Amino acid sequence: MSFNPLEHKGIPLEEQLRNWSELNVQPYRKEEVHPYSRTRGILANGIEVEAVMFSHQMARNTLDSDVKRKLAWLRRIEAQQQKAINWLIPGDETTIEVTLGYEQVAVDLTAFIAQNEPDPYLKSVYDFALLEDFDHLYRYANLYQLIEGKKADAICKHLTEITPGRPTCFEHRDPNDDLRRPMTALAAHPQSILNALTLVAGEQQTMNFYMTIGNRYQEPIARGLYAEIGMIEEQHVTHYESILDPTASWFQHLVLHQWQECWIYWSFTQEEPDPRVKQMYETHLAMEIEQLRLACELMWAIEKRDPETVLPVPAFTAPLSFHENKSYVRHILATQTDLTAKYSDFVPVSTLPADDRYFAYQRRVNGNWSPSDDVIRQNSQASGQEYRLETDGPHPVPGLRIQRENQETDYARHTKLAA
Ligand SMILES: [Fe+2]
Ligand SMILES: [Fe+2]
Ligand SMILES: [Fe+2]
Ligand SMILES: [Fe+2]
Repeated sequence: MSFNPLEHKGIPLEEQLRNWSELNVQPYRKEEVHPYSRTRGILANGIEVEAVMFSHQMARNTLDSDVKRKLAWLRRIEAQQQKAINWLIPGDETTIEVTLGYEQVAVDLTAFIAQNEPDPYLKSVYDFALLEDFDHLYRYANLYQLIEGKKADAICKHLTEITPGRPTCFEHRDPNDDLRRPMTALAAHPQSILNALTLVAGEQQTMNFYMTIGNRYQEPIARGLYAEIGMIEEQHVTHYESILDPTASWFQHLVLHQWQECWIYWSFTQEEPDPRVKQMYETHLAMEIEQLRLACELMWAIEKRDPETVLPVPAFTAPLSFHENKSYVRHILATQTDLTAKYSDFVPVSTLPADDRYFAYQRRVNGNWSPSDDVIRQNSQASGQEYRLETDGPHPVPGLRIQRENQETDYARHTKLAA
């Protein structure tokens, strides 16, 4: 199974424009949507938001008015694609429910990418942030129970475990320690480029989402939690964007973006069970094929470079897939929860000297209140116990198992029910 977008014919750009009824799509039903249909939609939205924002940045750095006009047309279509996808989310899905979807994306997307990353350093970059987003899911699940009285499993449906990762309060680091070593696009494995572009877009959209909706609550704990986790997503965007090749030209980036969008839609058309949404992904793939052709044409025209020299492979061979990754995540939890970052490397916190800038930064931001800790305390009080969903056994890190006496874990209850 392989797919070369350069060998297919797409939809001519003028025919890609849609009217308002076509854009104002019928949302899914939140009771029926498959969790991974939700996550595919969230990621596709992130990819389109990145396409729009990248194009704006490129336009602001472009003198040639003909190129600006071409970018404006491409961008108009990207913006429509973004609406069509993001409007699949129904109005009765609450902000926290959407948030749980965002963090489920982060967990299962990052776990998939880490397992499909050929470069060992880049794999360590993915594993590192995986445990942080995994912890966010647990914090928001507790906020969900505290504020809405519901269990996050109604959203994640047993596909992703919900339990502590690297505790959010320990994720805050000095900005000097959030920059990674960049890849060289021309030497990198094609899969590494697709992986990096995908995570940059996904994490950036999560950052955008929290910075926008985090103040829509009245409860101080909710506002605090979104502010705190929103700042980690800023760190994650810094972390991921720093692995991209900073020497690639604007046109090279434009071509790579369109090529990566083709990969996403080609992948999603293969997995999506909802026929209506699958149809949308097929249409978007046909759109992206033409957008890629136009981006290549622009590169030829302006840089006099053959775009095929910067497109690393003629064909996609491996689709991106959303599936459960519980045992992989448990393995990373067991071995890497105690890591932090020092410059562009990952080291156990215990190796840092007491006067390291990590501790100074921690003291400054955590001050006298950590919303991510407090939400667990508040929910334990209000609901009788904190919310966890450990389907595959006790927490792999003994120090992160529930400490209170007489407290049944989800695992114990689950096993009892199963017996
Ligand atoms: Fe697009
Ligand atoms: Fe996150
Ligand atoms: Fe993140
Ligand atoms: Fe595109």
